Amino acid sequence: MIHSRHSTIINGFWRSSPARLELHPGDTHLWLVSLEGPAGNPVSCLSGEEIARAEGFARDQDRTRFLLARAALRTILGSYLGCAPKSLCFHLGRHGKPMLALGGGQGLEFNLSHAGKIALVAVARNARVGIDVEYRKNRSSNGIEAIIRRFFTARERTIIEGLEESQKRDTFYQFWTRKEAVVKALGASLPAMIRDFDVSTPGEITPGVSTPGAPATETLEPDRWFIADVYIPHGYTASVCVETRKPVFSFWRFSGS
Ligand SMILES: CC(C)(COP(=O)(O)OP(=O)(O)OC[C@H]1O[C@@H](n2cnc3c(N)ncnc32)[C@H](O)[C@@H]1OP(=O)(O)O)[C@@H](O)C(=O)NCCC(=O)NCCS
Repeated sequence: MIHSRHSTIINGFWRSSPARLELHPGDTHLWLVSLEGPAGNPVSCLSGEEIARAEGFARDQDRTRFLLARAALRTILGSYLGCAPKSLCFHLGRHGKPMLALGGGQGLEFNLSHAGKIALVAVARNARVGIDVEYRKNRSSNGIEAIIRRFFTARERTIIEGLEESQKRDTFYQFWTRKEAVVKALGASLPAMIRDFDVSTPGEITPGVSTPGAPATETLEPDRWFIADVYIPHGYTASVCVETRKPVFSFWRFSGS
């Protein structure tokens, strides 16, 4: 499915993935992962570090979802690289973005996001990518107001304030996931840079206000990026940001193997 720079909502039909996956430069593959069900066997492909991190979750549900998401991520990446999921080594960027260790990735870039019962994984070749999904029931109105005050640009705030009450929440989530997808593509830190750019024009990233001490907006180079809202049913909002001007998206449903 091909989308122009001006098509900002990508409404994919999530299909079973083919036996042989091909990912060319310019392609962005999105994976929808269900986080329901017991962690079971997939956990055997995780590293000791991941298992230890899972132990730190207080709630069983959070632990299981973390494990399932990481197992799916490893399985997905392993299928592009033709290697066992367990053999993959991740290292973390300065602000915690997991990346494939040098040499093992064949230019494969990825990002993961989870919310509620689903995770999304975005995979691209030789292009940084970030993805964010939110479950729209998760935040209280006060929480939303606080985020808008702290992180949104003046223009984003004005647009939301001008909307009818019924549209405010959806628009908030749209802007918020776009912003997080951009930050995650850069592997940056949310508080440090999120007011530096504005995502209220569909498909565009424009400079916003500068946060003292934050990285310069120029490092974002808005023209290099494509940002799109990903349609997900059942109360979720998601966006993807990829360092390609004309990405070709594919939508795969993760089946567990
Ligand atoms: C990552 C971040 C942008 C948002 O995460 P979120 O919306 O809460 O959660 P998501 O589910 O969308 O994403 C989390 C996943 O993104 C990945 N990730 C973590 N840090 C990342 C970063 N800086 N950039 C890109 N991806 C990152 C990880 O795979 C993580 O999931 P996992 O740990 O289960 O593997 C946010 O936590 C952040 O800004 N981190 C940087 C460190 C920081 O500034 N911390 C203070 C937070 S206020």
